[in-house]
Amino acid sequence: MKTIEINTDVKVSRIIIGDSLKNLSSYIPGGKAIIITDATLFRIYGKDFPPFPVIVMGLGESHKTLETLAYIFERLIEYEADRSTFIIAIGGGIVCDVAGFAASVYMRGLQFGFVSTTLLSQVDASVGGKNGVNFLGYKNMLGVFNQPEFVLVDTGMLQTLDQREFRSGFAEIVKAAAIKDASLFSYLENHHLDALENKSSVMEKLIYEAVLIKSQVVQQDEKEKGERKKLNFGHTFAHAIERKTGMLHGEAVSIGMTLAAAFSVKLGFLQQSESDRISQILSNLKLPTTWESNCSDLVSDMKKDKKREGNALHMVFLKHIGNALIEKISFNQLEKLSYDLC
Ligand SMILES: NC(=O)c1ccc[n+]([C@@H]2O[C@H](COP(=O)([O-])OP(=O)(O)OC[C@H]3O[C@@H](n4cnc5c(N)ncnc54)[C@H](O)[C@@H]3O)[C@@H](O)[C@H]2O)c1
Repeated sequence: MKTIEINTDVKVSRIIIGDSLKNLSSYIPGGKAIIITDATLFRIYGKDFPPFPVIVMGLGESHKTLETLAYIFERLIEYEADRSTFIIAIGGGIVCDVAGFAASVYMRGLQFGFVSTTLLSQVDASVGGKNGVNFLGYKNMLGVFNQPEFVLVDTGMLQTLDQREFRSGFAEIVKAAAIKDASLFSYLENHHLDALENKSSVMEKLIYEAVLIKSQVVQQDEKEKGERKKLNFGHTFAHAIERKTGMLHGEAVSIGMTLAAAFSVKLGFLQQSESDRISQILSNLKLPTTWESNCSDLVSDMKKDKKREGNALHMVFLKHIGNALIEKISFNQLEKLSYDLC
């Protein structure tokens, strides 16, 4: 078991990697607690939950909404939750994003913790304190920055995860390596077969290293003023792809990173051979790197990105594997580049 701490101005958030859901009670401060989860997690793991009331939310991105929040607030009132109640989210990125937001605004904020149950949430979504919901089709349009007291990563829970969901999580590990850690990238290249088989020693290293990268970036720039933007590598494309296709987040990020690497080459930042290594590792991890629509459609959809600044966007490109840069790029420029590439 390993622990990583994120120290921000207001609290120390602990990420515990390798403990079991069965030990969850030991992390919860005394008193009242309420669990928020989804139907699948409740069915598989409900018997191992500590004995607190449970709120079960709907499955999938279509439930990451204000309506679900309203449902959670009604249940919290019904269970007489007050300022001393601790909220525990048990689930993937969707449950953690929604429950973290609910806990942050109910009665102006309750303490909360996560048990992170998908690979994607263990390496990315549950780490870093971004909580929120989608609105009018825009991803994560409403939300807050607020760190959980703890994130418990029980890697054993990955055994029950659907294979497609499991593979989707590797996209965020590739991203962490691509922007910050060339040796982690090489490790992935050398161990992708063991990773795909969920070999525990390999998975624990990958999860630990990816969380370490994210936690260091978050600690440096919690509110995403600069350095944290690098964690969005591939995501500007990915959000547009997710909106258009309903692909899983990690699948869309995989295509988004392939495009962002290709654009990095086109802009003269990155060598073609390094861009090829990125698409190769994603294919080796059985993630998609292409999609049927064309890039100019995608660029027009990117105009809906919440991070757009007038006629331009700040986008993340690569100089090398392990070294990212942030550049402001106009939609005109993007359109021209996409014309050449797709
Ligand atoms: N807050 C952030 O910083 C951040 C970062 C990246 C992604 N996200 C968000 O995360 C969301 C995606 O999260 P996700 O990929 O974890 O998907 P998810 O939360 O929808 O979980 C995927 C599916 O797997 C099931 N599941 C979860 N854990 C399981 C387990 N151990 N065994 C069996 N089934 C299990 C769930 O019930 C669900 O049906 C997106 O909304 C994305 O925007 C947030």
